[in-house]
This record gives sequence, structure tokens and C-alpha cells, in this order.
Amino acid sequence: MIDLHCHLAYGVDDGPQSPEESIKLAQALSQAGVTHVACTSHLRRDKFWVNDQSVQEAIHQNLDQALGNTGPLRFKGAEHYLDELLLETCQQKQAVPFTNTNWILLELPYQIEPPNLMTILFRIRSLGYKLLLAHIERFPYITDHPHKIEALVNAGYALQVNLGSLSGAYGKVYQKAAEKIISGGHAFVAAGDCHRAEDVEPFILQGLAALRRLLGDSGVRQLTVEQPAQILGVDGK
Ligand SMILES: [Fe+2]
Repeated sequence: MIDLHCHLAYGVDDGPQSPEESIKLAQALSQAGVTHVACTSHLRRDKFWVNDQSVQEAIHQNLDQALGNTGPLRFKGAEHYLDELLLETCQQKQAVPFTNTNWILLELPYQIEPPNLMTILFRIRSLGYKLLLAHIERFPYITDHPHKIEALVNAGYALQVNLGSLSGAYGKVYQKAAEKIISGGHAFVAAGDCHRAEDVEPFILQGLAALRRLLGDSGVRQLTVEQPAQILGVDGK
């Protein structure tokens, strides 16, 4: 599996808080069959998680030191929260695309749909970024309106579903929403979004089993290997 959404770096968000916790998570990912992982620490200024381009080198130096060759092959990235500062972050080239790509992982706000959402997404795209929308099943203001899902896909945005939603780890509501998106063929990527080693079993392993029940082995490969590989520009065979 190629996991494009993972909180592997330590001490920078609500993921691991020590090198040891990162090591445990990396080992659990490998054991679950994850070969490549994007380290998508939160970039969320309201919570003082400022994992922008300026700190990437330090984050990855620390990870290299703690992990060495332990765990999957690591890629840079961030989970960019869509707030009023994100456009400026993108304009100042402080967004963090996956290594050697122009793809960024984007998290929408939870409470209400941002006014002019499509316009904001279009403006970010106009700056040269391609957008992968994180755990799209978690936003009822989108998922309760199937035409909005279609509008996002038709506009060229890629939708990511959390495997943990499919396994029911976040509750029935998100499970049903995730199943609908997957069954409708609207997801481009399924990912782990693990924050600690203990997440790997319920999110990735049980999530992969749930995905397999919906789409079979070929669907699992498409959403967790082939299409993530397309985004990273790596060999997904
Ligand atoms: Fe996340």
C-alpha cells in the first residue's frame, strides 16, 4: 500500500510526540504492508501547527535520525487546513506538496461549508497546485448532497477516503458516507490517516478488509497502490 495521509512526524501536531512513538508507527505501517508513506503533518495555524515549507527540512532530518531505514519509504507533505490564511501560504510557496509533485492534501473545515468553496479551490489550483481532498466523507455539507461530490470530481479534484471510516472506526455516519463515495466510484485514493501505532489495525488493516468487501482486490489496488502511485509519480506495480 502507498499511504498518502499519515501523521508520522513527531512533536509537530497531534501525531507521535517522541521519536520512539514515530518508530513504533513506522514499524506498524511496514508490518501492515505500507511501502511508501507521505508524512502529512497538520498545517493548521489556529492550533499552532505550522508545518509549512520552512520547517520541512528540520522535520525530515529528525525523522531520518530517528527512523533511518525503518518503516516505509518516506515522502514530504502536509495536511493543509482550509482557513483564511491558506491562500496566502500557497502564494508564498509555503504549501508542502508531496515530494517532487505539485499535489497537496487539503482538509476542509468541519463546522460549515466555506462560502465560495469552489472559488477558493479554483484559486489554489490557479497557483499550480493539484488538490487531494482529505477524508471527504467527514463533511456532511458535501456528502449529504451527491451533486456536490460530482461537482468536485468533475472539476478535477481528487477525493481521499479514510480506510478507518470504512471499517467503522469513526462511527456509522462516516462509514455510510465513505461507502457511498467508494461505491459511487468517486474516490481516487483511500488512506490511513494514522496518528499512532495503535491506529494501524483498526484503520488500515480493518479498513482494507472493508474496502475489499466493497470493491474486491482490483479496487483495493487501484485506490491504495495504483492511483496513489500516480500522484507520487512512483512505480505502483
Ligand atoms: Fe490527518
